[in-house]
Amino acid sequence: MATIREPLERIPASLVSVSDYERLASEFLEPATLAYIAGGSGNEQSLRANIEDIARLSIRNRLLVDCAQGHTRVSLMGQGIAHPVLLAPVGHQGLVHRDGEVAVAQGAAATDTALIASTQATRRLEDIAAATDSPKWFQLYFQPRKENTLALVQRAEAAGYTALVVTLDTPVQSLSRRAQRAGFRLPAHCQPANLADFSVQDQPTTGAAGVFQGLMATAPGWQDLTWLLGQTRLPVIVKGVLDTDDAEQCQRMGIAGLILSNHGGRALDGVPSALSVLPAVRARLGAAYPLLIDGGIRSGYDVFKALACGANAVLVGRPQVYALAVAGALGVAHMLKLFRDELELCMALAGTPTVADISARCLAQDVHFT
Ligand code: FNR
Repeated sequence: MATIREPLERIPASLVSVSDYERLASEFLEPATLAYIAGGSGNEQSLRANIEDIARLSIRNRLLVDCAQGHTRVSLMGQGIAHPVLLAPVGHQGLVHRDGEVAVAQGAAATDTALIASTQATRRLEDIAAATDSPKWFQLYFQPRKENTLALVQRAEAAGYTALVVTLDTPVQSLSRRAQRAGFRLPAHCQPANLADFSVQDQPTTGAAGVFQGLMATAPGWQDLTWLLGQTRLPVIVKGVLDTDDAEQCQRMGIAGLILSNHGGRALDGVPSALSVLPAVRARLGAAYPLLIDGGIRSGYDVFKALACGANAVLVGRPQVYALAVAGALGVAHMLKLFRDELELCMALAGTPTVADISARCLAQDVHFT
């Protein structure tokens, strides 16, 4: 592991916000590992936009609203979810904790949080699934060989995952400059466990062939998404959408919902935040279509703002890794409880007893659904 301290076994009273975990994580992780997790691609324009765009919004407080029947429950893909904060798919979590994604799943179970397990997990998708009774979706990366993609789909179905999340925004990806400067290398014990059955030449790698003749030569196209829809009974969600035309094409072809995302600023640098494109995508796809977003969500207030801009739910990426490094499953559960408690507080003070009551009218700024 790339850690420098054992995770805490109790949560100190001074840990009171999600950002506290981020601050504390540097005491637990080697600098190169921290750089790998925190960094974004290019000059980190998109990474910064994620935080800045949320910070620009203000919430309206509304007085004397009866919130006695309030709750945070939502329905996504026909599934009841206790609160609209999901754990984003984050690979290689064995880097920061010996139980990796299994500990994250235990934290999710303790707080009834839905999780999305990554293709790149360091633990097998079956072991992650077994660690939580809460809703779980599987994040799929297309593999160079169709039979390997299908094998992952069938394993996810058999293990009890109830949706597939296909991530499409990183057919190629480079290590962030921060991680390169810090000399980050993925240790041998952190290789993706779900791909272990595939031969090495059938796994996506950045070879000497360069971008176009390398990874892009086997990158998926729209026809592969159509193929996937014919292979599974699970709802298929696409992650990584930012463009309204792409969003509409997904909806038209039968994709069940979208996760608007710039991959936490780790995909194409220079693209906008998911939050900033959300109102336009919502306007194009209609009120009923499931739209989730991620990137820079660090508090219950941020969750509220995203819901007010038209999201049905949000995903959190880095906070789960920091919480895992600091205090294992307990840390993940506590971090998720902080999100939920803050969201409840915010909903109560904004006069919105349910998630359905949260709308653009809850923000001080005009949000344009064009
Ligand atoms: C990711 N993300 C990601 N996404 C995905 O679809 N599959 C994956 O395996 C990974 N792996 C991964 C590793 C690390 C270290 C990070 C930080 C992110 C992206 C992730 O799902 C999510 O989109 C972002 O992390 C959301 O932004 P925040 O919450 O980290 O700001």
